[in-house]
Amino acid sequence: MTAARWAMEKRKNMELKETIEKRRTIRDFQNKIIPINIIEYAIENGFKAPTYNHLREWDFVLISSLQSKLKLIESEQLDKIIDYDELEAIFRNEDTIMKEMYLDAIPKQKKMILDAPSIVIVVFKPKTRVENAKKIYDLNCLASVWACIENFLLSLAEHDVYGVTFIPQNIDIIKKKLGIPDELEIASIIPIGYKSDSAKILKQNRINIIERIHSENW
Ligand SMILES: Cc1cc2nc3c(=O)[nH]c(=O)nc-3n(C[C@H](O)[C@H](O)[C@H](O)COP(=O)(O)O)c2cc1C
Repeated sequence: MTAARWAMEKRKNMELKETIEKRRTIRDFQNKIIPINIIEYAIENGFKAPTYNHLREWDFVLISSLQSKLKLIESEQLDKIIDYDELEAIFRNEDTIMKEMYLDAIPKQKKMILDAPSIVIVVFKPKTRVENAKKIYDLNCLASVWACIENFLLSLAEHDVYGVTFIPQNIDIIKKKLGIPDELEIASIIPIGYKSDSAKILKQNRINIIERIHSENW
């Protein structure tokens, strides 16, 4: 390989690494519209992810109206007032980094849906209905759609757009309210947007990679 080619390859690798590091969960958004082509491009990149059955049976419902956002908030009962002291007590004995994340995230669940200029609901066709899954294999469809979600988030981050992968509890109610076919499942509801100046980026746990790699045997 020539030096120029090596330098070019290294630059490409840096771009990938920069985007991977740039992608972070953001729950505080600016009031600024995201151009639709950035969202469509991220979905296109989502569809390049590996999939268990080669079919990539994924759909994306885009939401931006207050009316639709309220349907989500209502379905997930996010209107409840959160007692911060109570919350702190629940996480008192947990790992500090994890505790910090939950104490920041839980009170923002409703606000992040209201403030995000767009919300992307990622829908997939289940191989086996979740309630009937018995083996990891039965969840291949879920694993695949999450590979798609990561590509989607990375592609957004490349354009300074960030998201937060909210997992709904009351999927059946949301499906009904939004007319999503019953045989499909919701993997995640992703509020997306440009991060606000005061957006909190939480500390990530430092991982000793060497300790996590097991050669030949555990
Ligand atoms: C499967 C999954 C479920 C998650 N559920 C939620 C959620 O319901 N609400 C939320 O605010 N964040 C949620 N998150 C975001 C995580 O809190 C976040 O990814 C984690 O704190 C790591 O931070 P980072 O993405 O900035 O590295 C979820 C992430 C994943 C992968």
